[in-house]
Amino acid sequence: MALQYNLFDYSFKTLEAQDKYEFDCGDADLTEFFLKDAIPHKKELIGVTYFFYDDLRKLAVSFFTVSNDAVRTDTFKENLPEGKRYSFYPAVKIGRFGVNKEFQGQGIGTQMMDYIKWFFVSTNKTGCRFLTVDAYNKPEILDFYGKKNGFTFLSDKDAEKQTRIMKYDLKPYSNGLLMDSYANR
Ligand SMILES: CC(C)(COP(=O)(O)OP(=O)(O)OC[C@H]1O[C@@H](n2cnc3c(N)ncnc32)[C@H](O)[C@@H]1OP(=O)(O)O)[C@@H](O)C(=O)NCCC(=O)NCCS
Repeated sequence: MALQYNLFDYSFKTLEAQDKYEFDCGDADLTEFFLKDAIPHKKELIGVTYFFYDDLRKLAVSFFTVSNDAVRTDTFKENLPEGKRYSFYPAVKIGRFGVNKEFQGQGIGTQMMDYIKWFFVSTNKTGCRFLTVDAYNKPEILDFYGKKNGFTFLSDKDAEKQTRIMKYDLKPYSNGLLMDSYANR
């Protein structure tokens, strides 16, 4: 895949009520969420939406919405590196995630996922061990989160459901960031 777009060529901010940006990710529910429902969700303190945008074109390139979450470790198939010390671990749910149609398939979604991982390890004000997502149960979406971005299924109970809960452990990622910063000293 030839990488055509660099996400960091674009600006980044929290979505606010006065923002007017075009957006269409090809999924009607997600597009409507960004254009209409994201601000009411923010006001209700249910989810905060962040987006990358081209200010000249008044175009949103990609967005994600996040809320606090928790994962129960008794549902895990695999062990945590340090063993399961708690019944629940703090998490952040990526409740909505979309890339403008014009930019899809060019690495933007993966770059945004890397950004989210960094965001909740480096600048978060509270502890956050996992990212979670309710992924559409479609092979290309499960591959996007799983094969491309390292998420694993929380359990097999939702295998036949419309969406599947997936999780990403931020601890090994955080260890990797620390190793990088030592390597660069
Ligand atoms: C799913 C989505 C976020 C991926 O973002 P992206 O910028 O296209 O992803 P990347 O370029 O980093 O990765 C592409 C991979 O994602 C997967 N993919 C899923 N939907 C895709 C789409 N419409 N176009 C291209 N790739 C898509 C493929 O596995 C692809 O793998 P490949 O590179 O080996 O072909 C984006 O396509 C999108 O917004 N789709 C509509 C909304 C949606 O379904 N959101 C997820 C809700 S759970």
